[in-house]
Order: sequence, then structure tokens, then C-alpha cells
Amino acid sequence: MRIDFGDLIIGETAKKYLQKAIDKNWVSEGDNVREFEKRFAALFGYQHAIATSSGTDADMVACATLYDFGAERGDEIIVPALSFVATANSILAAGFTPKFVDVELETLNLDPSKIEEAITDRTRAIMVVHTMGKPCEMDTILKIAKKYNLKVIEDACEAHGATYKGKVVGTIGDMGAFSFYTAHQIVCGEGGMVVTDDDKTAEVIRSVKSHGRPAGSIYFDFQRIGFNSKMNDLEAALGLEGIECFNGFFNTRKNNLYKLLELTKDLSDYVYFIKEEDYEKVSPHAFPLVLKDEKYDRDGLYDYLESRGIQCKTLFGSLPTQHNAFKFLDYKYGDFPVSEYVGKYGLHFGMHQYLNDDDLHFISDTLHEYFRKY
Ligand SMILES: Cc1ncc(COP(=O)(O)O)c(C=O)c1O
Repeated sequence: MRIDFGDLIIGETAKKYLQKAIDKNWVSEGDNVREFEKRFAALFGYQHAIATSSGTDADMVACATLYDFGAERGDEIIVPALSFVATANSILAAGFTPKFVDVELETLNLDPSKIEEAITDRTRAIMVVHTMGKPCEMDTILKIAKKYNLKVIEDACEAHGATYKGKVVGTIGDMGAFSFYTAHQIVCGEGGMVVTDDDKTAEVIRSVKSHGRPAGSIYFDFQRIGFNSKMNDLEAALGLEGIECFNGFFNTRKNNLYKLLELTKDLSDYVYFIKEEDYEKVSPHAFPLVLKDEKYDRDGLYDYLESRGIQCKTLFGSLPTQHNAFKFLDYKYGDFPVSEYVGKYGLHFGMHQYLNDDDLHFISDTLHEYFRKY
């Protein structure tokens, strides 16, 4: 592959913290994790940042805290039909039922106008996903949440450092979840983080991610249902370097995203591109596009890009109606027309910090070559 989805170079800071863990013969959760949590919270201005073993676990732990706030097993959490599968899986793993809602075509985010019709007397939370780093329409979502007394969990796994009306995503709602898997902007290999500005919620998160013990304890006193969702010190070593590099990487990725949008803007008759409004800062996670007409043949484009060495992924698809895993929930094809359309006619590829001008021109040229036949 010439253009990989993401890339990782392990530098001196990560090596220093890796060595520290090795010298201490301590590689499970320890000093590196504590330092990573502290610096992550400071970088974005969160009151609490609690590290987990993955973004999926960050979502799951955030959901499982709801039991401390009156939720019961089997209650419902609203979630977009279109997202990476970890969102719905984490809701189910925490003992809840995902209640899917369609997304908007141009933002790929939860459609706020469709949330209220999905709320029942068992709904306890809305899990929003800032897809491809683009913040959701939080003002409207928070208003609905307040009206129905629902918690808001922000899945910001793809949205490190994104802002909405001056506020950084993650604690606009009650809790936020992040992933540090390799393609993301801060990388641990595997790893995640739950953030909150609320002290009680933070204490419950710390407990749930460590088997439901009292926060900070390693002994056998289990106060609530919990998991082993802890990060280890080797992963945190990489994350600490990611914190140091964050602003530089963010700006490079953002410049790359802007440049490619500029180079390809004449293709906007064929595709919807990601847009940034003046009240938001989109986090440069990747480069998504959705075809404006079925006739442009997404699979053909996908294969063409891959054959030129540009690693592609689809845009997830509608989890309840285009993926076998959720068949048991009895949704039917057609329930989520926008998500289903994006599932069939969308794709995304990497927009990471190691791409250079030649790479961006190469991607643009490849896209132009493909659409020339139309
Ligand atoms: C929106 C979203 N949620 C959750 C996750 C899960 O994160 P992880 O792969 O770290 O478990 C991802 C992964 O990229 C994601 O994109």
C-alpha cells in the first residue's frame, strides 16, 4: 500500500516511558497510565480522564455507569444506525439494548430530528458519535436529553480535539469515550479513555473499569458489575508520546484534509465531501466521501483506489439492517434509508500526518481518473 489508513512511528518519548516500565518490572496499570490520564485531561481541559483497554471498553464502561444513575438491565440507549460496530456492541455488552436512529447524509451523524420518536419509557441515554471527527448537533441533542432526563455519552473515538461552539467534544454531554487504536491521532496500539467533568461519575467509571471494586482498590470487594478494562503501562508509554505530538499531528492532518478537499472540489457533482461549519473544528480522522448517485459505483471506486495502493474502508453501513450480527433485533431493511445509502455508496481512506504533498496529488489524480469516465 502506498497510502495506508494510518501509520505509527515509535519515537524517543515512547521509548523512554517503555524503558521506565521495563526497568521497574511493572507493565500492568501503573505510573505511565496515571501520567497519561493526567496529561490527556490537561491537554483538552477535562476534569477526569480514566484510561481503558480500548475505545470499545471506554464505550462499554461509560454505558455501565448508568446503573448507578437508576438504569436497569435491558433499558435502551439511543445510538446511530451508522457507526463503527463497537458502539452497538458496547451497549449490548453493558447489558442494554441499542435503539438505532438514522443519520444525516451530509454529516454522517445522528439525525436530531429522528431522536424523539425513538424514545420510550425505557430509554436512559443517547450515545452520539462524532463520526469522522465531525461534531454532532449537540445543542439540539442536549435539549432533547434534558427534556427526557437522559444521559449523553459522546463517542469521540474518531474526534480527538474536535470542538463544537467553542467546547471540546467529550464533556459537552455527561461522558466521552476515546480510542487510541493505531489509525487514531493519539495512539497506544490498543487503548481508550473515558472523560467526564462530574466527580461521582468519575468514581463510578474508575470502579466499573476495574471489576466494580471501589475506585482505586485492588482487593475483593465488588460493589457493582464491572469489567477488566484497564490500560497497561506499555500502552500508556505510546500514548504519552501521542500527547506530546498531538498539536503538531492535528495541524498536519488538518492541512492535509484541507488540501485534498481543495484539490478535489471540482468533483463535488459526484460526491458529498466532509464540511466544516464556522462554529466547529472538525478533527482530521480520515477522508470520507459518499457518492451522489448510485451509478458512480462505489465498489468500482473502492477497487480502483485499492488497485492504486490507496487503502480503503467502507463507511460502516447500517448496523441493524446491513450487518448480520444485529439481525436478532428484528429491524428490517429500509428502516434506516440514509445509513443504508451510505453503507452502499460511501467509503473513507486515511488522512494521516505522514502523507506529503505528492501523496495528496496522487490521491486527487486517482479520484479524477476514476470519475473521468462519467
Ligand atoms: C466511533 C468508534 N467507536 C468506537 C471505536 C472502538 O475503538 P477501539 O478500536 O479502540 O476499541 C472506534 C474505533 O475506531 C470508533 O471509530
